[in-house]
Amino acid sequence: MKSKRFEVLAKRSVNQDGFVKEWADVGLIAMNSPNDPKPSVKITNGKIVELDGKKREEFDFIDRFIADYAINIDRAEEVANIDSVKLAKMLCDVNVPRNEIIKLTTAMTPAKVVDVLENMNVVEMMMALQKMRARKTPSNQCHVTNLKDNCVQIAADAAEAAIRGFDEMETTVGIARYAPFNAVGLLVGSQTGRGGILTQCAVEEATELILGMRGLTCYAETVSVYGTEQVFTDGDDTPWSKAFLASAYASRGLKMRFTSGTGSEVLMGNAEGKSMLYLEAKCVFVTKGAGAQGLQNGSISCIGVPGAVPSGIRAVLAENLITTMLDMEVASGNDQTFSHSDIRRTARTLMQMLPGTDFIFSGYSATPNYDNMFAGSNFDAEDFDDYNILQRDLMVDGGLRPVSESEVVKVRNKAARALQAVFEELGLPAITDEEVEAATYAHGSKDMPDRNVVEDLKATQEMMNRGITGLDVVKALSKHGFEDVAENVLNMLKQRVSGDYLHTSSIIDKDFNVISAVNNLNDYAGPGTGYRISKERWEEIKNIPNAKGPADFQ
Ligand code: 5AD
Ligand code: CA
Repeated sequence: MKSKRFEVLAKRSVNQDGFVKEWADVGLIAMNSPNDPKPSVKITNGKIVELDGKKREEFDFIDRFIADYAINIDRAEEVANIDSVKLAKMLCDVNVPRNEIIKLTTAMTPAKVVDVLENMNVVEMMMALQKMRARKTPSNQCHVTNLKDNCVQIAADAAEAAIRGFDEMETTVGIARYAPFNAVGLLVGSQTGRGGILTQCAVEEATELILGMRGLTCYAETVSVYGTEQVFTDGDDTPWSKAFLASAYASRGLKMRFTSGTGSEVLMGNAEGKSMLYLEAKCVFVTKGAGAQGLQNGSISCIGVPGAVPSGIRAVLAENLITTMLDMEVASGNDQTFSHSDIRRTARTLMQMLPGTDFIFSGYSATPNYDNMFAGSNFDAEDFDDYNILQRDLMVDGGLRPVSESEVVKVRNKAARALQAVFEELGLPAITDEEVEAATYAHGSKDMPDRNVVEDLKATQEMMNRGITGLDVVKALSKHGFEDVAENVLNMLKQRVSGDYLHTSSIIDKDFNVISAVNNLNDYAGPGTGYRISKERWEEIKNIPNAKGPADFQ
């Protein structure tokens, strides 16, 4: 006989997920691998000569980079001798301020950080994250992509995402050569929704750098680092080449952060038998050593791997926490789907949403799942109302706000028309009124007419050859009566010159003030301190359109 109870359970969405038992020798273990090194550090003549059980002669290039650039050696030996449980207690203790403990956490070695975090449960890690994130005000980033690489839809989706509250927006491509159109669509759409939003187009490195230098994007993020030398080398990179790339962006006044995350080394078959968290700790240290202001981590595109092992989602929270412990901005994942279960994906997201991070999602899909060109999304456009109501239920600021249908329709239409004007002025293949109309009301790319892809791709190439820059976009917008959008795009170009948004954890508000860990440093020290939802913000979160008021009952 078969149990009917088990028959029902077997059909539950969670049982479509894949799970594996721990297998330390290939690195399928979230934390605490028997092969992880024990923490140690030795300094001679101002140089680290021993790091986590290895002598300098045995260092690989990651060890050497970390030893030479990523650790505050003035206090390294002192911190190594402090009991890890004591340090763990300090991390979640509201009476130990961030500015005090950051002096200790930035002097730890990778194995020491992991040793400390192994003592903490997820609630303690959330307590620590609430205190340790760099920027006081939490924020959110979204993905704006679609299956057809339709830039009119990108503009409309970006404008809507802007009024929904996202401060950073990222696009990518299905067809690589579409990148310039997607970047311009995102730029114009976002600045139509609200001035000050940072945009990114994640593509191959040289193209991405050119788009940034031309002022068609505002930041870069997908500069990947890995925790073992073999995996790093397989990507044709070294910590030094990544540091060079980081400097290339910074020298042109562009914000940038690195990307890493648990599971990448296992996936690429070279985890050296180490735990995912230990290898990720090394990535965070490489990021610090390269001088990047921040890191997108939280497994990111590898989330299925930690998601499949015991305590894996706890390790993902731990890796976000490590980034903040090294005094960097964290864009904390929650982007790619890892589970068929709504319960699991919500639980996973609460780890960052409740404490708040610099960017709770490093890619909330502002489109339906099928249009997400990074991969399936953890949260997407269909989840906007659920997310808004979670904020309202828990009185937590997750960075988004409820919006009305009429304001969404209006701003989508304006963004599509603004892009239409830019295309006309720059002599790019026309955006028809039919496309503008479709983008205004579309849910996703299935509602959009097809463009002539061959003609578009010829035009993207030609546009790059002609040397079109952000300034040409400004002129086109201005000439066609979109003065306000033109002004916003121009202001984003000015940011490139002042460089203020290179500070740690910067976002730009609607009045073009840079809000960062410099002027908005997290000062959480328990109840009544740190970020608190303002009266105005609470009104915004509370007032979902479908809540009934007294008048509805009379
Ligand atoms: N480690 C390193 N890089 C990652 N990316 C995503 N996940 C990881 C990870 N775990 C980067 C890759 C990818 C982009 C979307 O983000 O560069 O192309
Ligand atoms: Ca991202």
